[in-house]
Order: sequence, then C-alpha cells, then structure tokens
Amino acid sequence: MRLSIRQLTKYFEGKAVLDDISLELSDVHSLAVIGPSGGGKSTLLRIIAGLLVPETGKVAINGREIPVEEEYLRRYRMTIGMVFQSYNLFPHLTALENIVLPLQRVHHMGREEALSQSGRLLHRFGLSAHGHKKPALLSGGQKQRIAIARAVAIRPSFLLFDEPTSALDPEYTSEVLDVIEELREERKDLILVTHEMGFAKSVADHVLFLDEGKIVSSGTPSEIFENPAEKRLRVFLDKVLKY
Ligand SMILES: Nc1ncnc2c1ncn2[C@@H]1O[C@H](COP(=O)(O)OP(=O)(O)OP(=O)(O)O)[C@@H](O)[C@H]1O
Ligand SMILES: [Mg+2]
Repeated sequence: MRLSIRQLTKYFEGKAVLDDISLELSDVHSLAVIGPSGGGKSTLLRIIAGLLVPETGKVAINGREIPVEEEYLRRYRMTIGMVFQSYNLFPHLTALENIVLPLQRVHHMGREEALSQSGRLLHRFGLSAHGHKKPALLSGGQKQRIAIARAVAIRPSFLLFDEPTSALDPEYTSEVLDVIEELREERKDLILVTHEMGFAKSVADHVLFLDEGKIVSSGTPSEIFENPAEKRLRVFLDKVLKY
C-alpha cells in the first residue's frame, strides 16, 4: 500500500497526542508501529481506521484521502478490517454469528453465502469445532482468531491490528501471530501496533517508532532494531528487550 500522512495533528484535552506528523511510504505491505505507552500509536491507527477525525492534516491510502464527513467515513470504514486488543466480539452471539452478522447486516450478503464464507474461515483458522460457542466459552487466542476471521471476512482493502496479542497468555500469543504471519504471506496489506519486538522484526517490511506524538524513527526492521540511530529509540529498545 501507499501511505501518505501530511502534517497530522490530533489533540485530546488540549494536548497534542499526534503532533504534526508526516510520512510518505510508497510500497509497504506490513507496517509495524512501536513505541512507549501513551505515544499515540492507537490514536494514529484509529485515524487510519476512520474512527477518529484529526484536527488538522490529511491521510491518504493508495492515493485516496480518508474522508472526514460522517457519511463517507461510514462507507470508508466498511472497507477496512480492524482487530483490537479486547476482541470486541458480540457476547450474545456465537463465534460463527459474530462473523456472519456483519456480512449480512453491513455488507448485505445473503445468509447462505455469509454462512459458507464464515464456515470456510473458521475452518481455515482451526476453529470449526468452536463456531457454536459464545465468546465467554472461548479462550483468548480463540476469541482473537474469531476477531481476525471477522475482519478478513469482509475482504478488506487492508487490515489494522492494535496490539492483538497483549491481552493473551503467552501460550495463545503464537497462535494469533501465526495467523497474522499467514495473512502477510498472502500479501494482505496490514498495519500492526505491537509490543512483540521479535514479531515486528520478522514480519514487518517497515517500522515506525512513535514517541510523544512524533514519529521519531521510520525505517526497515534492520535500521530500527539493529542500527537504531536515535537515542530515544535506543533507550526504548534497551528497556523492552532487557528481559
Ligand atoms: N479519547 C481520549 N480522550 C482523552 N485522551 C485520550 C483519548 N485517547 C487517548 N488519549 C490520550 O492520548 C495519548 C495517546 O494515547 P494512545 O492510546 O494513542 O497511546 P498508545 O501509544 O496507543 O499507548 P499504549 O501503548 O498504552 O496503548 C495518551 O496520553 C492518552 O491518554
Ligand atoms: Mg494503544
């Protein structure tokens, strides 16, 4: 994907959470966003998802600007798959219906087609035996794979992941990362906010380091992890890679 960010600023309560950031990436398939807590990673992702509107600046993806009017935004959001840390599944629906319902309601797919597409995805992500269960009966890793299946089901133009594994026990982290890795291998474009440095290093073709609302570093995984030029980045990596 092509990603163009021009002088983007977002304020919360008078404070610039994204502070005049600009970025041009012309051919990126998997972009990892790293950085300390509160640095603005989720805010940036939510703007790219069309869930938040910035105060100033523009974001364009593949040459198309993200709209600001609610009506166009609603349509834009329907083209994106987003996966959150907290799964955001409907608790009263089964795993299968969590995938089926948005296809029917939002994307106006017929019930039969929605059911067969969702069944295929459950199978693919190793969840066929769990389709009838409600989220409360699923493990964290299973819930997150359902959330990913739901995001992929709509055939999005790209996928956004906001710390998809940080609520998971370590034993479930790899099953979710495996699914993301598979999507990357299929050349699905994705942007991933993550605390998993090893994963960012192996899966991303470009990495952004965001701190205090600024893009402090932007580079290839080897530039970021092996030759970090900026002091703030080195301090951050020393801290997170310590143990
Ligand atoms: N809806 C909101 N209202 C007020 N302040 C907010 C809101 N959302 C985020 N913030 C503030 O904006 C700053 C950036 O938040 P953001 O969630 O983007 O950080 P982050 O990099 O994703 O952090 P983390 O790694 O902890 O998820 C924080 O100081 C946060 O408190
Ligand atoms: Mg966040």
